[in-house]
Amino acid sequence: CYQPIRWCRPGAEDSAGAVPHITIVPGRRPSDPELWVRCYYQGTWVLAPHLPGIVSIQQSFVPRRGDVVLASPPKCGTTWLKALAFATVARGAYPPGDTERHPLSRLNPHECVPFMEMLFADGSGSGKMDALPSPRLMATHMPHSVLPPSIKENAGCKIIYVCREPKDMQAANPEKVLFLRYDEMLRDPVGNVKKLAQFVGQPFSPAEEDAGVVMDVVRLCSFDKLKNLEINKAGSGSLFANDSYFRKGGVGDWTPDMARRLDAVVDDKLRGSGLSF
Ligand code: A3P
Repeated sequence: CYQPIRWCRPGAEDSAGAVPHITIVPGRRPSDPELWVRCYYQGTWVLAPHLPGIVSIQQSFVPRRGDVVLASPPKCGTTWLKALAFATVARGAYPPGDTERHPLSRLNPHECVPFMEMLFADGSGSGKMDALPSPRLMATHMPHSVLPPSIKENAGCKIIYVCREPKDMQAANPEKVLFLRYDEMLRDPVGNVKKLAQFVGQPFSPAEEDAGVVMDVVRLCSFDKLKNLEINKAGSGSLFANDSYFRKGGVGDWTPDMARRLDAVVDDKLRGSGLSF
């Protein structure tokens, strides 16, 4: 599945079309720098370990009605969204109030909702996905431009997108894509879980709301609850150590100087695009 990819130096992609190059992006966690290598692929940056899976998804993923794809850039609340979506969608089989027996009490959220890039990395992804019962819940860090048409165009396959700053949000089909904002989820977790349930076609019934099931989901997936589970203090359910997904879980962890520099970068990137924030 590496066939369509040729490696080249930065800049060469402009003349040669969708050709990736690689660069090292220094990460905050240098324990395994290879994990932070990024590739320029089809006009955007993707994590190098995800690239074989991305190509395989583009070639062979067949969506099914009822599929829900959780899409996000890294560090924007993916782990939390995976926990909330899993707890919501699987609440029939696993009541979120029964925390002792809930899978999220013994598994990292990344083990409950797999990254498609990892499932497809070895070429066996289609088989693994076909074996999953509907409704299938899956996640991806693939940017929208890299998502295969099979996902973007299949009306029965929905996307939930979480970001931390909606600087690059664009108008989207509200039936197809639900945009969530991490800071909004922190402010109103109950409202956002209800929105998520409604969107995936499993709205909470008045009886469930009266019984406090929405609050059960929120409590089960809260930062303190997940961070303090043994499974999330050690081990690794995905590319990175489980504890790396639970740092502070808040907003405003930046200095005015950092904000000024980031705003300048975003201003620069969006200039002339017609987008404002
Ligand atoms: P901080 O680094 O600001 O603490 P991702 O899962 O996409 O990598 O995002 C990681 C961010 O989500 C981290 O933010 C992490 O602390 C936060 N996070 C993880 N679980 C959370 C939860 N249950 N509730 C709120 N924030 C959570």
